[in-house]
Amino acid sequence: MNEELKRIKDELTNCINQALNLKELGEARVKAFGKTGLISALSKNMRDVPVEDRPKLGSAINVLRSEIEELLKEKENKLENEELERKLQEEKIDITEPSIKVELGAYHPIADVIDRLADICVNMGFTVVEGPEIESDYYNFEAMNIPKNHPSRDMQDTFFISEDILLRSQTSAVQAREMETRKPPFKIICPGKTYRNDSDATHSPIFHQLEGLVVDENISMADLKAMLTILMKRLYGEDTKIRFRPSFFPFTEPSIEVDVSCPNCHGQGCNLCKGSGMLELLGAGVVNPKVLEISGIDSKKYRGFAFGFGLDRTAMILNSISNIKNLYRNDIRFLEQMK
Ligand code: PHE
Repeated sequence: MNEELKRIKDELTNCINQALNLKELGEARVKAFGKTGLISALSKNMRDVPVEDRPKLGSAINVLRSEIEELLKEKENKLENEELERKLQEEKIDITEPSIKVELGAYHPIADVIDRLADICVNMGFTVVEGPEIESDYYNFEAMNIPKNHPSRDMQDTFFISEDILLRSQTSAVQAREMETRKPPFKIICPGKTYRNDSDATHSPIFHQLEGLVVDENISMADLKAMLTILMKRLYGEDTKIRFRPSFFPFTEPSIEVDVSCPNCHGQGCNLCKGSGMLELLGAGVVNPKVLEISGIDSKKYRGFAFGFGLDRTAMILNSISNIKNLYRNDIRFLEQMK
């Protein structure tokens, strides 16, 4: 019997030594410990051995079992290490090899201006809101104190979808929506697309505005002027000069228009500012008490001020773009220049 054990040990040791990879080692393991494996068979044959010899044989089989287990483990470690070594050799990374160039996109100039202005305004405590582009006549005009047939509707050539539905011609429409739902005090800005039937080098039927609205107690034109001055300087630079001109909007009283010194020529006069040294940028004013009342805000207690920026013009000035259509053509060569 001892001989038989030795023969089995030699045979299994051979098998293990010859295994070239983990798969072959797995086969060797099956040959030893599988259901019909050599060592399993030994245990099964125990029945045929005389009772007195069984303990001795049993322990001899146990020794053989652990010897073979040990050999398998050792070989397994060895093969695994070899495998790892091989992978490390083969899959070496050449860190000096030039990398694949990743093409980065650029912000569209309008998105960039919205981002910059929103950053400045959020810093001053404003909340950014949005409103629908397809709007009712009520929010776009009537709630802004522009009744039907009022001559000031002619200031804006509006695209009507039906009698009462239109493409909003000003982000001021969002003012009314916000005043209806918010409790003062509040400060909001609303950037977005606006539409008017107008088209030349500086006008596009689709354009962008950014509306600002502050409603609070004890605020005045002085606060509006101070705030717009800071806003303009943060956008165009500290040395920017700001000019306020009286104007008219049905929803603000008094109304102003705001010009800044041309950032291109610093007020000397150039092509961009058509020689005037100044650029007209936005409309603003103290909210007409009528407008507050229409939206359910007590105009005895609260006052408001509002402003409306043309964003396309701002993007054109900041990036020296001469034709507004370039902003909408999606010409990749143009966008490349914005990087
Ligand atoms: N809605 C005005 C326009 O489109 C701009 C504006 C906004 C004026 C808010 C005053 C206050 O021309």
